Amino acid sequence: MPTILPTPDSISITPRRLHLEFDGLETTFVQGNPVLTSLFCSLSAVFPPGERQFIDSVRYYQDQVTDPEMKKRVRAFIGQEAHHGNLHEVFNDKIQDLGWRTDLVERQTTFINKFIVYMSPERQLAQTVALEHLTALFANFLMNNPDFLGKNPHPDLKTLFMWHAVEETEHKAVAYDLYQQVVGNDKLRKAEMRFILPVFMGHMFESTALLLMRNKKLSHRGGWLKTRNELFGKHGVFTAIKAELNEYYDDEFHPWQTDNSALANNWLQELAL
Ligand SMILES: [Fe+2]
Ligand SMILES: [Fe+2]
Repeated sequence: MPTILPTPDSISITPRRLHLEFDGLETTFVQGNPVLTSLFCSLSAVFPPGERQFIDSVRYYQDQVTDPEMKKRVRAFIGQEAHHGNLHEVFNDKIQDLGWRTDLVERQTTFINKFIVYMSPERQLAQTVALEHLTALFANFLMNNPDFLGKNPHPDLKTLFMWHAVEETEHKAVAYDLYQQVVGNDKLRKAEMRFILPVFMGHMFESTALLLMRNKKLSHRGGWLKTRNELFGKHGVFTAIKAELNEYYDDEFHPWQTDNSALANNWLQELAL
């Protein structure tokens, strides 16, 4: 039987609308590394269509929620994801001007979503739950390792990704709790992680390569080696999140079994949000 843990009292799922301009952003804006930059461009390009799909998968079940507190959390989830998509669109336009063809990646994601929407609502919600776990782990990594963006990142770039990381943390259990209330099939929950994780990773890798190719930087050997280290090395992202990623397959898994609310709240203060 899956565990339902309460969201910590100090967490308030608040949609915050931000206005950022990204003036003076450099072309190679993550650690001066074109491969890492291309990876972040790909991630950002995936967010608007990806988060729209998250919203749709949750909205399908919205009417079945009777608990007023849960209703409120679902509304806040939708509000936060909508704002994320909107601000990433502003950012994507900016980096497109710098030569990163985010429109191509966004088009591919929309194409993948065309297949996803033919799947059952249960499967679609389970995929959202799985990707929300992955997103929450990336968010936690970034909040713990802000230097991943570079020693001295553009302030708006830092605000964009840290704001997004904080709000992903705030709402990390909403899709999960909704799924347990309205679907509750734990076997399907795990199966959809096994399905969607390789789809997502494959899409990210291919998009990163595509954007580099468009910028004639695909064969930047130093960039690839550094990126491999940043992702899979001793202190790399996947090395750091591996154990928690695997916890998803435990019967008793719940997103708040790792309570990182203090970290998220510290970032809220630092960003003055
Ligand atoms: Fe988001
Ligand atoms: Fe999210």
